[in-house]
Amino acid sequence: MGANFFSSLTCGLAAALCLTAVWSQSINAESVVVSYDDPLIYYNGRWDIEPETWWVGSGFKVNVQNLSNLTLNLGPYTSDPVLLGVSVNYGNFTGFNATQGENVIPLGDLAPGSNAVVRINSVGWEDNHMNLETIQINSGAVLLPYEPSRIAFQFIGDSLSAGQYVPLGVDQAWPFLTSEYFKGEHNIQAQPGIALSACRARFFDIYSYGNVHGMSYQFFQTEDTQYYYDAMHNYTTPWNFARDYPAATHVVVMIGANDSGNNVTASSFYETYIDFLARIRLIYPVQPMFIILPWGWPSADAPPAPYYVGIYQEVVEYRQSVGDRNVYLVNATGWIDYSDVFPSNLHPTVEGHQKVAGYFESWLEEWGLVAEPTWATPA
Ligand SMILES: *[C@@H]1O[C@H](CO)[C@@H](O)[C@H](O)[C@H]1NC(C)=O
Ligand SMILES: *[C@@H]1O[C@H](CO)[C@@H](O)[C@H](O)[C@H]1NC(C)=O
Ligand SMILES: *[C@@H]1O[C@H](CO)[C@@H](O)[C@H](O)[C@H]1NC(C)=O
Ligand SMILES: *[C@@H]1O[C@H](CO)[C@@H](O)[C@H](O)[C@H]1NC(C)=O
Ligand SMILES: *[C@@H]1O[C@H](CO)[C@@H](O)[C@H](O)[C@H]1NC(C)=O
Ligand SMILES: *[C@@H]1O[C@H](CO)[C@@H](O)[C@H](O)[C@H]1NC(C)=O
Ligand SMILES: *[C@@H]1O[C@H](CO)[C@@H](O)[C@H](O)[C@H]1NC(C)=O
Ligand SMILES: *[C@@H]1O[C@H](CO)[C@@H](O)[C@H](O)[C@H]1NC(C)=O
Repeated sequence: MGANFFSSLTCGLAAALCLTAVWSQSINAESVVVSYDDPLIYYNGRWDIEPETWWVGSGFKVNVQNLSNLTLNLGPYTSDPVLLGVSVNYGNFTGFNATQGENVIPLGDLAPGSNAVVRINSVGWEDNHMNLETIQINSGAVLLPYEPSRIAFQFIGDSLSAGQYVPLGVDQAWPFLTSEYFKGEHNIQAQPGIALSACRARFFDIYSYGNVHGMSYQFFQTEDTQYYYDAMHNYTTPWNFARDYPAATHVVVMIGANDSGNNVTASSFYETYIDFLARIRLIYPVQPMFIILPWGWPSADAPPAPYYVGIYQEVVEYRQSVGDRNVYLVNATGWIDYSDVFPSNLHPTVEGHQKVAGYFESWLEEWGLVAEPTWATPA
């Protein structure tokens, strides 16, 4: 009542403002408001306590009965804008720029009153903060549990995995495409410019292309390395791996381009890599680990230039020599050539990422991984 009275006063002063105010109050009055801490929201990726997303592809999934509309209310930590990928009922992800405040999410041609699985993630490697406060859905809509897939990928990489330079970021990159193909869950810790590390000393790392830490440190943190440029959250905190639900079933690492770019010697890179995998094994004790031998840097007039020739193989052989029976070398040599990358930066195009995903999916199928026939939560 009070609010309506206030609105009619405002009406006389500024009609347009008034319409906005009345309209949003009617959403408030009639919608179902779901708080960010509702246990029926399935979170993936890394969120801090605000909660705010870090790293490419972090987001959430909801399974909603009788859904007609969905609005995200985002808080002050939200990037301006944050590019979100939105998928309804497992359809392709489409981009949506969200900002602090109310964001009415386009649900496509969803018939009013449908049951729907809505997946929303932050696709970028910078300006990638979605600070979720509430989700508003139409009255009569009901949140149901989201059952995660039995397959859950953990990817670890650099710009070549993060989807740098493609319009929809990681949602168009080969790790995400692979995960979708197998109808799996995904966590993707990938950051452009990042080195695995760059120094022989165990916990010492370097500044690499704007990254204040190497992946052998940052992987274990909640925040990606962009925290350093964030005046509102200029610190990093350990990640609680118990929050990865389900725990990763398959671990994939492709890294080294930026160690190479920083002139890290092969022996130092090798030491860093085996130390990193030893610490990764403490988190994922039995899961298969796939170490990708990268495709190298393509050029117009020669085959792609490899880096750390022989080292990836040695890293895998070392793991096997200490009794690790579940680590595999994936040789990506030849997966990409100059026609698959942007000439200006040698990173895969949209089609290039699809090509890599196709190769990796076939590799995994030959290894024995079978795509789930249907998503665990039906649409
Ligand atoms: C989804 O994306 C794939 C790959 O880009 C494309 O082949 C397909 O046509 C798209 N499907 C729809 C329904 O747009
Ligand atoms: C999102 O905003 C950026 C500019 O910040 C723009 O370049 C891009 O096209 C927008 N994407 C969508 C899907 O609206
Ligand atoms: C969403 O549905 C509610 C009713 O449940 C309605 O009040 C509101 O206007 C709708 N919002 C949009 C953006 O359609
Ligand atoms: C579905 O939601 C609409 C409002 O969007 C409501 O009128 C209707 O009663 C709901 N149906 C059920 C079965 O809850
Ligand atoms: C290292 O990272 C930067 C930023 O992503 C990229 O532009 C550059 O090509 C990379 N260099 C090497 C040698 O990997
Ligand atoms: C973050 O903190 C470091 C010092 O720890 C400082 O050098 C840097 O400028 C800060 N970044 C921002 C965006 O404030
Ligand atoms: C790496 O070595 C090359 C050749 O010596 C040199 O041109 C380049 O500046 C070095 N890069 C770094 C990051 O030190
Ligand atoms: C990777 O594949 C390339 C091309 O087939 C081959 O030349 C190279 O020997 C392979 N490397 C390893 C370690 O198997």
